Amino acid sequence: MKVTIDGQSIEVEPGTTILQAARMIGGDVVPPAMCYYSKLKGSGGKCRCCLVEVSKGSEADPRPMPKLMASCVTGCMDGMEVNSKSSERVTEARKAVTEFLLINHPLDCPICDQAGECDLQNLSFEHGKSQTRYIEEKRTFEPENIGPNIQLHMNRCILCQRCVQVADQLTDNRVHGVLDRGDHANISTCISKAIDNEFSGNMIDVCPVGALTDKTFRFKSRVWFNKPYNAHRECTTPGCCGKTTVWMFGGEIQRVTGRKDIYHEVEEFICNTCRFDKKDVNDWVIEGPRVFEKDSVINQNNYTKTEKVIINTEENILLGRAQDRKKISMAEIDYNEKIDGNLIDSNKNG
Ligand code: SF4
Ligand code: FES
Repeated sequence: MKVTIDGQSIEVEPGTTILQAARMIGGDVVPPAMCYYSKLKGSGGKCRCCLVEVSKGSEADPRPMPKLMASCVTGCMDGMEVNSKSSERVTEARKAVTEFLLINHPLDCPICDQAGECDLQNLSFEHGKSQTRYIEEKRTFEPENIGPNIQLHMNRCILCQRCVQVADQLTDNRVHGVLDRGDHANISTCISKAIDNEFSGNMIDVCPVGALTDKTFRFKSRVWFNKPYNAHRECTTPGCCGKTTVWMFGGEIQRVTGRKDIYHEVEEFICNTCRFDKKDVNDWVIEGPRVFEKDSVINQNNYTKTEKVIINTEENILLGRAQDRKKISMAEIDYNEKIDGNLIDSNKNG
């Protein structure tokens, strides 16, 4: 089947979605995707970031589709013509979706571990505005301890549900999901059970924002101060490929993640032992530097060469209501919370 996106044509197999066809073409025509994840079955259709305009339905029925379509869940038809980056209507819609996603998202990038590799930051950079029209109170959630390895910041969650699909498809016992509905919808564990399955750490890698972060890396460094290297080890966990990216600061491994491609999706999933327990250089065979997109802040690694940057957080960045500032600074949050009545020490692994 032939499909044309922004004037570029490609032959695809039946069953290919518009987003997949765009990724085959590559470059600017690829729509942003915050919830679709090619390695997770059933992902997509939640965030509406990937909207495109179908100006010709197919050769058999050339009528345009009246509404913008979510490209990650819309199949290609023979002769279909699609406008992505070239369409003003699409650009406007992406701006609107970005604005909606940011309505409840806190402006805590300066202290968020995901900063520098956050898909929402990238989306905002491309389609966001520096002002907000939102004057209502932001929706906030009480902190919840979901176990020894993963930090949940529900205020940052965009409800893409990728982490739920990881739990469904990679672990044998899902203990978390989307609870409540509408404005109250939130990611939570059932009766505050800890997420400690051997593959649960992959939720951190698939989370497009900083809602799920690595407790063993928490506040240790900014990602652009680390040097990422491809590394592997003989992993004995069934299902783990043992191929990772290790993030080093000098001779120290500060973080271990899956290897991510240009769409920020992991190439293969890894187990929690590789991710959380193997922080010694001798645990790994280091293959060489990991390459990122040219304009990625991680690739720059220039920040270490600049003069000391002074950010007056209170005055300039965390403008907003006093209660937000209190939650964002997290000064009063006790991370040694109770799970099922037992005190959990969040500093310990396992
Ligand atoms: S916690 Fe992250 S991965 Fe899970 S639904 Fe929220 S944004 Fe998506
Ligand atoms: S990526 Fe298509 S709806 Fe989210």
